[in-house]
Amino acid sequence: MCGIVGVTGNDSAVSILLNGLQRLEYRGYDSAGIYVNDQNGEDYLVKEKGRIDDLRKEVSATANVHGTTGIGHTRWATHGEPSVANAHPQVSADGRFYLVHNGVIENFQDLKNDYLSDVEFTSQTDTEVIVQLVDRFVTKEGLDTLAAFRKTLSLLGHSSYGFLLMDKEDPDTLYVAKNKSPLLIGVGDGFNVVCSDSLAMLDQTKDFLELHDGEIVVVKPDEIKITNQAGEAVQRDTFHVDIDAAQADKGTYPFYMLKEIDEQPNVMRKLSQVYLNDDGTPVINADLLDAIKSADRLYIVAAGTSYHAGLVGAKLFESLAGVPTEVHVSSEFAYNQPLLSKKPFFIFLTQSGETADSREVLLNVNEQKFPSLTITNVPNSTLSREATYTLLLHAGPEIAVASTKAYTAQIALQAILAKALGEADDQAAAKDFDVKQQLALVANGMQALVDEKATFDKLAKSALLHTPNAFYIGRGLDYAVSLETALKLKEISYVQAEGFASGELKHGTIALIEKDTPVIGIITQQKTAGLTRSNLQEVAARGAKTITIVTDALAKPDDTIVLPTVDERMTALLSVVPGQLLAYYTSLNKGLDVDKPRNLAKSVTVE
Ligand code: F6R
Repeated sequence: MCGIVGVTGNDSAVSILLNGLQRLEYRGYDSAGIYVNDQNGEDYLVKEKGRIDDLRKEVSATANVHGTTGIGHTRWATHGEPSVANAHPQVSADGRFYLVHNGVIENFQDLKNDYLSDVEFTSQTDTEVIVQLVDRFVTKEGLDTLAAFRKTLSLLGHSSYGFLLMDKEDPDTLYVAKNKSPLLIGVGDGFNVVCSDSLAMLDQTKDFLELHDGEIVVVKPDEIKITNQAGEAVQRDTFHVDIDAAQADKGTYPFYMLKEIDEQPNVMRKLSQVYLNDDGTPVINADLLDAIKSADRLYIVAAGTSYHAGLVGAKLFESLAGVPTEVHVSSEFAYNQPLLSKKPFFIFLTQSGETADSREVLLNVNEQKFPSLTITNVPNSTLSREATYTLLLHAGPEIAVASTKAYTAQIALQAILAKALGEADDQAAAKDFDVKQQLALVANGMQALVDEKATFDKLAKSALLHTPNAFYIGRGLDYAVSLETALKLKEISYVQAEGFASGELKHGTIALIEKDTPVIGIITQQKTAGLTRSNLQEVAARGAKTITIVTDALAKPDDTIVLPTVDERMTALLSVVPGQLLAYYTSLNKGLDVDKPRNLAKSVTVE
C-alpha cells in the first residue's frame, strides 16, 4: 500500500520518478507527488489528486520541472482524505525537508502533542508529523539530518514505515529507513534508486540491495551506506532480479487482469517444468520435505484470495499426504492464535510476500521457533526472507489488484507439494496421483475457457450487469471456489456478492433471494453434485436466476458452463476461471477501472 520511489544522481530524475510511480500505481492510486532538486538551488514540489497520469499533467503544466535527485509517492489514504494537501511528499514548515512514507505511524498523535504543539500542520497525515519532527531536531536541537532522522525513528514504537527523506541543504542525498514496509535500493551506473518494488526500476537496473527492518541507509549518487539500529555499518551483497521489464507491461491488453487470466495455462506449464521431472516425480528440496514430514499438523496462514487458495490446498494436503491441515486468516491468527498441535509446520501463502497481516503471524511463529514455508510470487520479498523455506510461484508479475494467476499457481504448487509429501510418506493416494498429467489437462482446460471470452461477456451482461447482489454456492472444494469467485465479483464490479456453502442457504441466507437474484452453482464434486442441484432448485422456486458451472462428467443438458473433466481434487483450477471472467466482464461493461478498483490497493502492507 502506497508506492515509493527515489533517485539520486540522474539528469532524468523526473521521468524516472514518474515512470517508476506509474509501475507502482497498483499499490495505491488516490493521489501522488514528486519532489526534485537540481543541485543548483532549484527545486520543485508537484502533487495532484488522482492517478499518475493526473500528476504527469500537473508536472507538464508546471514550468521547467527538472532535477537530478528526487522522491515520489503514490498514495492509498490511511490518515486524511485523498487531496493535494494530504498527498506526499510532505514538507516541513520551513520548506527544508521532504518526506514520502508507506505505512502507519501508530503514535503520531502523541508525538504531535509531545513535541510539536506549536507547529501549524497543513495536512491530516501521520507523515507530516515525522517530517516536522526531523526539522525540529535539526533546527532546535542542532542535530545533523542523519542524527535527527535516527532520533525520530527511535520514537516510533511499533509503527510501520518505509521512508525516503530529502534535505534541501544536502540535495543529492536520500535518507532511507524501513520497518515492516518493503523498500529496496537499486544500484545504477553513476546513480542510485530506491523503490517499494523492483518492478518500478527494472528499466534502470536489475541489481538491488534488500533492506532489513530498523536499518537506515544514506544513498548518494556514488555511495550507499547501510547502518543498523545501533549505527554500525552493514555490508550486504546485491541480488539480481531476472525479470524482463516488458513482462510487467500489459501489451495490447486493455487491462492487466485479462492478460493475467490468459496467462494461467502457461503458469501451469511453467510450474510443471520447474517442480516436476519428466516422469512426473516432484523436485522439492529434501530438507523442506523432511521438515514437513516431521510435523503433526500443517497451518496454512494467508489473506484474501491467498486464503481461498489455502482452503483448496488443505484438502490436497489431507487427501494426498494424509496430513491434518488447518487454514487461517492471517489478521485473525495474528492476535488470536489457536491452541497449536505439538509439532506444527506453517505455510504462508502470499502473492506479494509483503502482506502485513501474514508477516505479523510469521514474526510470532519465528519467535516461537516453529518451522515455516512461504509460497510466494516475489523472490526476496519479506515473507520469503523471513520464513525457514521458500517456494516460488513463477507466475510472473501480477499487477491487477484482483489476483487471478497467483491463486491458480498457489493451488497448483500446493498440489505438487502434497504429492511430494504423500510419496515421501508412501501414501497410495499420492503415488496414484499423476500431478504432471493433471496440470497438463488443467492447462488445456483453462485455455479452452479463456478462448470463450465472448460467452462470458454475454453472460455477464445478461446476468450480472444490473444486479445489486449475487451468490456463488457450492459444497466442499466448490464452496472454497465460491468464496473466491464471489470475492472477484465484489471487488472489481461492486456487486454485493457472497460465496456460500450451499447447504447453509436454508439456515438463513435464502431469505435474501428475490426475483432474478443471480445464484451461480459450482458443481464439480460427484458426491455433492445432487445436493447442490437441489439447493439451486430451491432458490429457483423463489425466483432466483440460476447459473451452473459444472464439469462435463457431471453435466446435464441445461447447464450453463461446462468445464473439461480433470481429477476432482484439481477442479478448483478450472471452476474459478469462469468466475474470474464473469467478474472481469461485469466490471468492464460497467465502465469501471478493472485493474484499480475503488478503495483497494495491491500488496497490503499495513495491518
Ligand atoms: C484479491 C486479492 C487480495 C490478496 C490479499 C493477500 O483479489 O488480491 O485478497 O489476495 O491481499 O495478498 P498476498 O497474496 O499478496 O498476501
